[in-house]
Amino acid sequence: MPNGPVGELIPPRRVLLGPGPSDVNPRVLRAMATPVLGYLDPDFIELMDGVANMLRDIFGTENGFTLPVSGTGSAGMEAGLANLLEPGDVAVIGENGFFGARLVEIAKRQGATVDVVSADWGKPIDPNEIENALKRNEKVKLVAVVHAETSTGVLQPLEEIAAITKQYNALLLVDAVTSLGGTPVNMDKIGIDFCYSGTQKCLGAPPGLSPVAISEKALEVIENRTTTPRTWYLDLGLLRKYWAGGTRVYHHTPPMSMIYALREALRVVLEDGLENRYARHEKNALALRAGLRNMGLNLLVPDEYCLYQLTTIEIPEGINDQTLRTSLREDYGIEIGGGLGQFAGKAWRIGLMGESSTQSNVLMVLSSLEKLLTNSGFEVGSGSGVKAATEIFNT
Ligand SMILES: Cc1ncc(COP(=O)(O)O)c(C=O)c1O
Repeated sequence: MPNGPVGELIPPRRVLLGPGPSDVNPRVLRAMATPVLGYLDPDFIELMDGVANMLRDIFGTENGFTLPVSGTGSAGMEAGLANLLEPGDVAVIGENGFFGARLVEIAKRQGATVDVVSADWGKPIDPNEIENALKRNEKVKLVAVVHAETSTGVLQPLEEIAAITKQYNALLLVDAVTSLGGTPVNMDKIGIDFCYSGTQKCLGAPPGLSPVAISEKALEVIENRTTTPRTWYLDLGLLRKYWAGGTRVYHHTPPMSMIYALREALRVVLEDGLENRYARHEKNALALRAGLRNMGLNLLVPDEYCLYQLTTIEIPEGINDQTLRTSLREDYGIEIGGGLGQFAGKAWRIGLMGESSTQSNVLMVLSSLEKLLTNSGFEVGSGSGVKAATEIFNT
């Protein structure tokens, strides 16, 4: 018996307050429903140029080559490591969470020798340790760190690491999957050579593309490779012939509807204004953190390193992680994240990214959590989350 068509797609309504994806702007969803163009249609090429230019503004680079790589954030990560590293090269990689570990794994798969500089989960990488690794290896080609570590909620300060990397004439690769559009990245000012992100976090589009920015120095390194990259799909030399220059050469069919989505999302970001957007992420995070603390919850990252896009909370003793998150989702329509890696079963992750970073979402998640925790026997104590958050909003 054939199975026949399944039912009409009617996804439930959710407010996405996890580690990503975050809510998608309705303008972006509308853009995705517009007609598909051919990959060499002059109108499509013009649209690609617009996307690349807006990406330059958001990454903070004037001369860098920008493009959205087909695939999610991990595709940008792999594109960077596969194009910049050759077998036998040495890379120094900061690992203080799940995504730093992914960088290490992918770099090793390129045949590189990786010197891992670790820090405890919940702490940033110490720039002195990066310098020690640069000193102990004869020639380091690349230093890589995660700017916003979504598994822990730690923001990695970049300035000092960038200065040291430059001093040793290595390339700096930065993972800005969770930071781009919510925290300044300032690629040129800081001196980043390769930066990648994802569409589904602070940019307000669905997952599916990885915006990437590459410095002139990194492009030179890619051009002067002695071996071809181990990847064909993510070969940036080939992709550049389609994304830049006079005559565009077909490489693979780009996901047009996702490029429309990114185009509209970037328009929204730039219309909002980058500074306004950063300020909104900051204020909403501070209100959320004040509310959680007032309810007697412990936050896992000290304020000095905390991300504004994501807050990690220690799950109180006696509270069942799965039961609470299921109630939040099924009874209140709110998704928050569980812990990843070392934090699995120990932490909740509340994301306030892009479209999801709003005052109303902060108040909604605090009041819902407060009710569920109280019903589960947790003593919220004297404080109310909503009251503490409102005080921040009123300042
Ligand atoms: C910091 C960081 N890097 C890389 C990735 C991988 O991105 P994706 O899951 O879109 O492939 C993520 C995803 O959450 C991330 O948060």
